[in-house]
Amino acid sequence: MRVIGMMSGTSADGIDAALVRLEGEPPNLKMVFEDHHRTEFRGPVRAAILRVAEGDKTTSGEISQLNFALGEEFARAALAACEAWNLSCGKIDLIGSHGQTIYHQAVPTRFLGVGSVNSTLQIGEPAIIAAQTGIPVVADFRTADMAVGGQGAPLVPFVDYLLYRSKHVGRVALNIGGIANVTVIPANASHADVFAFDTGPGNMIIDALTNVITEGRERYDKDAQIAMAGQIVTGLLDRLMRDRYFEKKPPKTAGREQFGKPAAERILAFGKEHGLKSADLVRTATIFTALSIADAFRRYILPRAHVREMIVAGGGTHNPLIMGQLAAMLPSIEFIPSASFGVPEDAKEAFAFAVLAYEAWHGRPNNIPAATGASRPVVMGKIMRPFTRRRKTFER
Ligand SMILES: Nc1ncnc2c1ncn2[C@@H]1O[C@H](COP(=O)(O)OP(=O)(O)O)[C@@H](O)[C@H]1O
Ligand SMILES: [Mg+2]
Repeated sequence: MRVIGMMSGTSADGIDAALVRLEGEPPNLKMVFEDHHRTEFRGPVRAAILRVAEGDKTTSGEISQLNFALGEEFARAALAACEAWNLSCGKIDLIGSHGQTIYHQAVPTRFLGVGSVNSTLQIGEPAIIAAQTGIPVVADFRTADMAVGGQGAPLVPFVDYLLYRSKHVGRVALNIGGIANVTVIPANASHADVFAFDTGPGNMIIDALTNVITEGRERYDKDAQIAMAGQIVTGLLDRLMRDRYFEKKPPKTAGREQFGKPAAERILAFGKEHGLKSADLVRTATIFTALSIADAFRRYILPRAHVREMIVAGGGTHNPLIMGQLAAMLPSIEFIPSASFGVPEDAKEAFAFAVLAYEAWHGRPNNIPAATGASRPVVMGKIMRPFTRRRKTFER
């Protein structure tokens, strides 16, 4: 099958689409990455996502509208990708769409006084994607895992395991998106040996600071240019590293609640109070990302698994300061870009959702209970079949 995986992560920077050719089934699943395309969100769309995801005031009406509007965005992203790849939609068998997370509460909390609830919400209406492309869509992956007691995250370890497992080498897959997360695959691991968790911030704080400092002109600190002009503020770094999140034992997940706008605002306030340069704040936030990853590695990974290689993906791999610091902090580890395993760093998560969709389509369980905490393996993803005839031509 030829499958498109689509993903927009916590950075809400745009939709990555990966074209993947799949054949067979695990453990002998053949996965070949073919191409990648990215579609930026239009400014007001991104602003609306961030507003809602930050927990600002909204209405059920706005969320309903945003679900449909994002359905249009994802459909547009799929069509634009097909056009860029010079492929007609008729040549695509399936789409796996993660959607956009606007809420994720992994741990059950009291609700309405009638019990505890945990929940998650990914939007980007799959019916619209199916209607506009004429391709069946698998979406809404996380809910099925949560319905059997899991945290609904992380889901990519299922694919990390397929890509990186080795009889002899212990490996960690590191993804630096808005949040940074790891999948640990000890040598000769079975599913039960795999563990995964969010280490803490990826690019999220750096992005938020950059946006404020440049008065909205820049969305992220390209090639760490701003950070390179600044100095580390150790007092601030120490304070950031004292976050309770780092004390928590895995499995654990992080989001905008911990490392979003409020965190950036605290840093800005600290900077103002101490008369620091903007670049110092960005540099410190960048080192914070690297340090929190290295710290998690030493605290929670090394004692449990002998690891030699770290396979890196996500937009943060393009930040030379994060990568340089990581390499300096973990000298015994060999850092390998995911592209060396056939999947480019920017396409990794989209690739994963193509694989998860393919498994769902065939009715095979695609969660790793050891990673999510689910009570059992389940088939994640709801299937939307298109009612329209398949399109023969491109259309935007
Ligand atoms: N050249 C670059 N220099 C520094 N940071 C970069 C660069 N390219 C991408 N990034 C970072 O990667 C982020 C996007 O990463 P991505 O993996 O898409 O995250 P997510 O999964 O959260 O959407 C951007 O917001 C930016 O912070
Ligand atoms: Mg992204």
